[in-house]
Amino acid sequence: MKRLKVLVMRRLPEAVETRIAKLFDAALNPADSPLPQDAFAEALAEVDALVPSVANPVDAAAIAGAGPRLGLIANFGVGVDNIDLEAARARGVAVTNTPGVLTEDTADIALALMLMAARRPGPAERALRAGAWAGWGPTDQLGTSLTGKRLAIVGMGRIGQALARRARALGMHVDYHSRRRLAEAEEEALDARYRGELDAMLAEADVVSLHAPYARETHHLLDRRRLGLMRRSAFLINAARGAIVDEEALIAALEAGAIAGAGLDVYVNEPHIDPRLIALDNVVLLPHLGSATVETRTAMGMKVVENLLAFAEGRELPDRVV
Ligand code: DGY
Repeated sequence: MKRLKVLVMRRLPEAVETRIAKLFDAALNPADSPLPQDAFAEALAEVDALVPSVANPVDAAAIAGAGPRLGLIANFGVGVDNIDLEAARARGVAVTNTPGVLTEDTADIALALMLMAARRPGPAERALRAGAWAGWGPTDQLGTSLTGKRLAIVGMGRIGQALARRARALGMHVDYHSRRRLAEAEEEALDARYRGELDAMLAEADVVSLHAPYARETHHLLDRRRLGLMRRSAFLINAARGAIVDEEALIAALEAGAIAGAGLDVYVNEPHIDPRLIALDNVVLLPHLGSATVETRTAMGMKVVENLLAFAEGRELPDRVV
């Protein structure tokens, strides 16, 4: 088997790095330090495969400047919006991702955001830590109940479906809008109602949760107009990608109290968070935690290894996107 020369852009879980180092001629990044642009370009000229994370942009210029050996970009992440897929296709460079293994943990974070936005344990915990809790009070720290409320899921792929299962356990009603309608049996199993009209679904929801991939078609899917359709009492949850929402319009809606609140795990310009979001009390802000468990990050890394191995052995790539 050809010993692949692999550039790994971020530190990965130990078990994954050990496996990569054993199987390939790998340049790892144990210090997890950002690779300067020129060093990146230099390294790309020499490698067979690149392992970026979802936080490492691989743009058209980087792909165009890569050496002739580059044949695979094995992304550490399921979203591939950090990679210029057209440029990869044009250069004949394959792209793979890590689907399936981060479904449940990402749905857990969406659920956590829903609970945090609606029940507001965050401000209550901060007040307690600050010594500001004077004891139980009938009208203190009141949030909004989720039981019996209507959840609208935008994008009913694996993660959307995993959230639907959780929401049913909470006693919520589940609507969904998606590129592909589920089979009747799947809808029945999830007790989820398909809504062909996104606008109508948004207008009736108590909670809207986004689970679509980011692409040209989903850029600002929730724009000013659609945010304006949501109820004043509704919450918006985003654990997908920041730019699916028009962040300016969301901030304006939150500032004006045009929606009740939001729970965000993703942002337009990560890791930069708009200071106006930080100043707001009706938004929960998490640092892109969706897949952040030891189990899932290790499983993601092992998927990367499977794709690298298949490439090295000339086999069909298990998670080919391009
Ligand atoms: C992904 O893999 O796309 C996630 O955003 C990482 O948590």
